[in-house]
Amino acid sequence: MSKNALVAGGAGFIGSHLTDLLLSKGYNVTVVDNLVTGRPQNLDAARKNGVHYVDCDIRDASGLAKTLAGKKFDEIYNLASPASPVDFAKMPVFILETGSIGHRNLLDLARAQGARILFASSSEVYGDAEVHPQVESYFGNVNTVGHRSCYDEAKRFGEALSLSYKIEHGVEVRMARIFNTYGPRMRPDDGRITPNFFIQALQGQPLTIYGDGSQTRSFCYVSDQVAGQYALMQSSESRPVNIGNPIERTVLEMATTINKLTGNTAEIRRLPLPENDPKMRKPDISRAKASTGWEPRVSLEEGLQSCLENFRRELELAGGKITARVLGG
Ligand SMILES: NC(=O)c1ccc[n+]([C@@H]2O[C@H](COP(=O)([O-])OP(=O)(O)OC[C@H]3O[C@@H](n4cnc5c(N)ncnc54)[C@H](O)[C@@H]3O)[C@@H](O)[C@H]2O)c1
Repeated sequence: MSKNALVAGGAGFIGSHLTDLLLSKGYNVTVVDNLVTGRPQNLDAARKNGVHYVDCDIRDASGLAKTLAGKKFDEIYNLASPASPVDFAKMPVFILETGSIGHRNLLDLARAQGARILFASSSEVYGDAEVHPQVESYFGNVNTVGHRSCYDEAKRFGEALSLSYKIEHGVEVRMARIFNTYGPRMRPDDGRITPNFFIQALQGQPLTIYGDGSQTRSFCYVSDQVAGQYALMQSSESRPVNIGNPIERTVLEMATTINKLTGNTAEIRRLPLPENDPKMRKPDISRAKASTGWEPRVSLEEGLQSCLENFRRELELAGGKITARVLGG
């Protein structure tokens, strides 16, 4: 018999790819989303494959009870949360409430239905890490009152709440610490590094980097990311698990690669480094490998090639009128 899955945040970038993966595995999938940062077109393929869409804010317990009435789930994936740093200043209270009240509502649903629940946490729980690469046993270095604190603390609270529901109510929880993920369906104007660089490069503009570009990130292609989350859900691992690609690049390297790929010759534009910007990001994925057998497969070159086609199409559809959102720029 087919399994039933709920994907909260399924109209977003990663959630829509996860929805497609679950549908391809024969799941009945319901997506709950309020489109605060998601887009209906992300579910075009899923709609053809029978996804059920519910418009609801996960912070709204009575709304969830009404819109999901009569539905029974085996697996709940909670990916609902704005994730771009440009949203941290715009809606910090919403972000904190989504990671706390919203996640609690889904934990209650999981508890009531005996479902497993996966929380999309983040490498941001490590903050400006002093341990490199980041291993799950590291407690992190987070500023509770900085520009990124609404997001970082929402994720840390979401993990603590997940663990508490496991201890107090026996809920089967999974926690994916997601590292920088990129791919088609990212909002071209959402301010994150990959869409920003592509939109700027395809418009022949200078790419914006913060600081000198020597800070590192590890970029995971989205098909690898959702395969990792699915493998984690199927595993018996209830501790937090890093899901990301351990190959590390400097931001400057990423900018140069995208300029080369798009043929952009404009100079790079440097802006001040934002407060508490992590200097180094690289997941240690030993736990993921040991618990799930998963590891990423897609090279940065392959992944960026598919992004190139995607962002070209986005620009065409928008008549060339997309502006990269730059922090403080
Ligand atoms: N993309 C990354 O590199 C990355 C890295 C670390 C963690 N994550 C986490 O993964 C998840 C998905 O990220 P993404 O990049 O796909 O972001 P996204 O903004 O594209 O997707 C998030 C989705 O959640 C929905 N949403 C947000 N708040 C909601 C609420 N209160 N109720 C209902 N729906 C709500 C949005 O409308 C959107 O469709 C997020 O939880 C994010 O924090 C992403």
